[in-house]
Amino acid sequence: MDFFTLSQNRESCRNFDDSREVEREKLEKIIACVRLAPSACNAQPWFFTVVASPEKRKEVASAVQKMNMNLFTSKARAFIAISQDKAAGVAGKVASRFFAPYDIGIAAAHICLAAQELGLGSCILGWFDEKKVIAACQLDDNKKVSLVIALGYAANQQRRDKKRKKLESIAKYM
Ligand SMILES: Cc1cc2nc3c(=O)[nH]c(=O)nc-3n(C[C@H](O)[C@H](O)[C@H](O)COP(=O)(O)O)c2cc1C
Repeated sequence: MDFFTLSQNRESCRNFDDSREVEREKLEKIIACVRLAPSACNAQPWFFTVVASPEKRKEVASAVQKMNMNLFTSKARAFIAISQDKAAGVAGKVASRFFAPYDIGIAAAHICLAAQELGLGSCILGWFDEKKVIAACQLDDNKKVSLVIALGYAANQQRRDKKRKKLESIAKYM
């Protein structure tokens, strides 16, 4: 799929087909893709925990359903938790103090677009119980989990209309 079609087709999936597992090979392709994402000073201040086993994904689903939000994630067949990790290189260590959240956002976009290319639905989750996600992902208590991405095959192939600000209100050309 060309990039413009891909970005048009990507949308947050909140209706996963729970009868279809996500193939390990696809998850590995997504991780190989996100590894190539840019980051400030090439700091790569991230770690990806890929959760697809039925017991573990149940734990992650429960951790992202804080205050009854994100209930649709019970049907997600995999999750990728992005935690902040040590930066590569001396310059990277300085850069990531300021830019790690941007780097992780770019990584999240790579994951969602790679998933779309592979025929998978995705939803970025920023609302979750961080301590529970850390426990479910068996990460050190001092880690910061920035985002969790729910993955799976979409139950419904119909796309929603995109609700976006008007084109003329988000950019100017000089
Ligand atoms: C940082 C971030 C956090 C988000 N957190 C959630 C979330 O916790 N639950 C959810 O259902 N969607 C979440 N979303 C998805 C947004 O609601 C969604 O991207 C936006 O409404 C645009 O819709 P679209 O992704 O379908 O194009 C999040 C998106 C981002 C970028």
